[in-house]
Amino acid sequence: MVCCFVALAVLTLTALFLVYRETRWPQLTVIQLGDPDDSGEPVVILHLADLHGQLFGKDQEHIRNLIAGKEVDVVVLTGDLVDEHTTSIEPLNSLLECLPEAPRFFVPGNHDKIAPVTRELYASLSKYGVTILDNKKVSLSKKGKRVSIVGLDDPYLGTPNPELLTGHGASEGELSILLCHAPTFGNRAVAQFKDTWDSCSKEVATSQKPRFTSGSVLELASRHDFDLVLAGHTHGGQIKIPGLGAVFVPGQGFPPKYVEGVYRIGSTTMFITRGLGTSRLPVRLFSRPEVAIIRWFTA
Ligand SMILES: [Fe+2]
Repeated sequence: MVCCFVALAVLTLTALFLVYRETRWPQLTVIQLGDPDDSGEPVVILHLADLHGQLFGKDQEHIRNLIAGKEVDVVVLTGDLVDEHTTSIEPLNSLLECLPEAPRFFVPGNHDKIAPVTRELYASLSKYGVTILDNKKVSLSKKGKRVSIVGLDDPYLGTPNPELLTGHGASEGELSILLCHAPTFGNRAVAQFKDTWDSCSKEVATSQKPRFTSGSVLELASRHDFDLVLAGHTHGGQIKIPGLGAVFVPGQGFPPKYVEGVYRIGSTTMFITRGLGTSRLPVRLFSRPEVAIIRWFTA
């Protein structure tokens, strides 16, 4: 009887430790994308998302340790850095402090829009030299390659501007990136993009391409010939059920189509990071917090 009790206690403690470790210990994902035949230097992108105002060790040391010493060309922060439960901006400041020296870009997420610290969020982004791409585009040069970045406002609580996508197809030797907090659009944004697509694109009248109604950011980006889409929001499902995988991602049905990792349509690639923090439940299961580094090889 005592043995059973001890075994049960050990099992329970082990399970709790594993859940804690899963939820609070990020892991590094390094992924090679683009043209595998390109032997030149890749453009290296550090991709972080969905901090939700949370801490990963003292002064974000678990994240800092993963980033330390990494050579990075561009840093992108794809939204939900804070949320409606965030009472202190310090965890975000600690994260911004440990970013490598490189141009930094941010697109807002749905939780950033409703956080009580939204003003502090924008002040911190400004203080740490992060450019806010809420319906804005920039271009820069890295390793002799032109990199163009379009950032959309949040696709659920913001007003993403579809006209920004027009004319941003991949040019020879250029890396074109679309930053969007989520991999899918809410109904309002879908209607908005459909109208713009129908009225602006001469192609649509003559081609067999169907109207845009799916809500897939990847589909839209591929129509405009972007090379790369970077998104978060999904938390990789946050809690996965063994044998079933992710059962819930906000804004998607069951089973969710876009959960984490790499998706492709034609020559457009989308990478969805699992991000760092949690929402609704303060727990992750089989969906470790993630710091992502993308090495993009351009033809
Ligand atoms: Fe989100």
